[in-house]
Amino acid sequence: MPTRDLFDLPDDAVPDIAQLRLSLHAHAHRYYVLDDPSIPDAEYDRLFRQLQTLEAQHPELVTPDSPTQRVGGKPLGQFAQVRHALPMLSIRTETDTQASGAQNFDARIRRELGLTDADPAIDFVAEPKFDGLAMSLRYVHGVLVQAATRGDGELGEDVTQNIRTIGQIPLKLPASVPPVLEVRGEVYMRRDHFDALNERQRQRIAAGERGEKTFVNPRNAAAGAVRQLDPAIAAQRPLSFFAYGLGEVTLVHEGGPVWVTHLALLTTLKSWGFPVSELVVQAQGATELVAYYDTIGARRDTLGFDIDGVVYKVNSLALQRRLGFVTREPRWAVAHKFPAQEMLTTVLAIDVQVGRTGKLTPVAKLAPVFVGGVTVTNATLHNEDEARRKDVRVGDTVIVRRAGDVIPEVVSVVLPDTACPEPIEGTDLLEPQRGPLFTMPHVCPVCASLAMREEGEADYRCTGGLFCSAQRKQAILHFAQRRAVEVEGLGDKLVEQMVDAGIIRTLPDLYRLGFTALANLDRMAEKSAQNVLEALQKSKQTTLPRFLFGLGIRHVGEATAKELARHFGKLDAIMQATEEQLQTVADVGPIVARSLRAFFDVSHNREVVEQLRACGLTWPEGDPAPVLAQPLSGKTFVLTGTLPSLEREQAKALIEAAGGKVVGSVSKKTSFVVAGAQAGSKLEKAQELGVAILDETGLKEMLDGGA
Ligand code: IVH
Repeated sequence: MPTRDLFDLPDDAVPDIAQLRLSLHAHAHRYYVLDDPSIPDAEYDRLFRQLQTLEAQHPELVTPDSPTQRVGGKPLGQFAQVRHALPMLSIRTETDTQASGAQNFDARIRRELGLTDADPAIDFVAEPKFDGLAMSLRYVHGVLVQAATRGDGELGEDVTQNIRTIGQIPLKLPASVPPVLEVRGEVYMRRDHFDALNERQRQRIAAGERGEKTFVNPRNAAAGAVRQLDPAIAAQRPLSFFAYGLGEVTLVHEGGPVWVTHLALLTTLKSWGFPVSELVVQAQGATELVAYYDTIGARRDTLGFDIDGVVYKVNSLALQRRLGFVTREPRWAVAHKFPAQEMLTTVLAIDVQVGRTGKLTPVAKLAPVFVGGVTVTNATLHNEDEARRKDVRVGDTVIVRRAGDVIPEVVSVVLPDTACPEPIEGTDLLEPQRGPLFTMPHVCPVCASLAMREEGEADYRCTGGLFCSAQRKQAILHFAQRRAVEVEGLGDKLVEQMVDAGIIRTLPDLYRLGFTALANLDRMAEKSAQNVLEALQKSKQTTLPRFLFGLGIRHVGEATAKELARHFGKLDAIMQATEEQLQTVADVGPIVARSLRAFFDVSHNREVVEQLRACGLTWPEGDPAPVLAQPLSGKTFVLTGTLPSLEREQAKALIEAAGGKVVGSVSKKTSFVVAGAQAGSKLEKAQELGVAILDETGLKEMLDGGA
């Protein structure tokens, strides 16, 4: 036997392989056995591929127990083992997130089938790659007798009890089905169900219930529910199912279903009562696969459930048989992944940012990481409580998530001891330096004014107002944005410079800028300075809603600004209106009215408005909108019972829109009780007190202005 000289190996391959295997074993254990992974899937995949590469370079170092030599998880032990009649396969994964991912698959299939360019496009089926867990449902004579997890593909776990709690899974099938039928598909948890579950878990934790935890993502929550030992608890964790294929089937010779295509098979499954995704389509050739990848990718965040890619399958079952398998993977299918939405990185610092309204937001500064299709260097920690709950500290390794256009956020911290459940001799990981637990500073980090957190609020706010340069910058950017007065080319870099250089302190200063002051700024070419001045000039012709929105009054968004302008017609009328008058505007409640009044009561704010007008800002002013007749003003209503056509909330909204008020209990001051079916004690009370009683028709007549 040749002796192996370890020192001949390049790149420290030996220790690397051992270390990698240990780490992968530990992560696989957390993922498959404990349903509690501590690193994102993409990180696990990366480590796995690294090990595969190393082992390919040094085949003599492959050990039988290497994670690359088996698929998936070892059963927990508490569930009975199930040997799958037909192994549950995995799919080859295409991690190339470009069109080439689909094109390579198509090219490979054509090559394997010996097709030339002259041959027609291949008939494929494209499906979402559901991010849940694979399940095999066994029906004997149409009755669900067993549900099993995939396990290692050969041996799974019997989770029938828990699967029976999933309403979407038929317990009994039509009489026409084959005597033995295994339906395979994905058990998953919808995002809304996941959010509700985590909310309940947070409440349980807050109430001091022991052993409760929140879940990292819907997939783990689903896996946890499926492998929950108490079916009663499993039943409280709402799961869903999509069918995507078959396992063992014994066909009856006469009259049994014989399928020619994968799509026909799915159609039959659907007719038998199995949920089949609406997003499954037939696709011809690489072009349509690419189009599908792009379409589903664009819709990914609006689907209501997680997918991590799409799956392409050859539609013809005859061709599938011809293509066959390589080890555990069929040649006729491939999974084409989307860019990962969760990645690992390190926290370099935790900064506190000051928003336009003074809100202080803790932000984790991160080592740059490519996640959700972009490079991310900042992730919000939302507020002090969140930052402390997640216990994010400088130096930590964290999971960052970015989905769609949502601001990137830190999901959780990955602590070194969670990577390896048991300390392994000789591999003591270096304990990284962790910073202190986050606390919000009690002064603004920018202007040093007091930062305050009001009772019942999650946020701290800087009390510096426009004295705070951070708030000033944000206020100017808000005013100059496209939806407000729109000053083209006035971006954050420029505003930052102008405020820092002290050439702008208040909004009117913008319109007093001279060419020289602008051109003297760093990296400001004469042409650009000229452009900014022209854009400022152009912005002077605006509209009342844009101007009002641009002032950045708290709680006054675009829609409210429009309503105010329509209602009052003139800015002076709005500035002088009392809270009561303001509240007659649709959309304006006590909070918005108070905020408007507070803003215009500050003399500095009134001056800013006057100066802007003096600088030449103008907008067309109109007459106030005719005050709508308010047929129900001054009247109070109590709603009770079920109305024939109006929902409770609709009736309330209609009454309020007509000037009336809706209260919860009946008193002598109540003007009317509106009673529907099953009205109870409130109706009795009304009769007792002699309060007028209306039905829905009566209410509608009053709303129309009748007596
Ligand atoms: S087909 C022969 N279709 O992906 C292929 N699998 O490695 C058998 N998955 O954990 C699987 N969506 O649970 C197939 N539309 C889909 C799928 C899908 C998700 C999962 C499956 C398994 C993994 C395959």
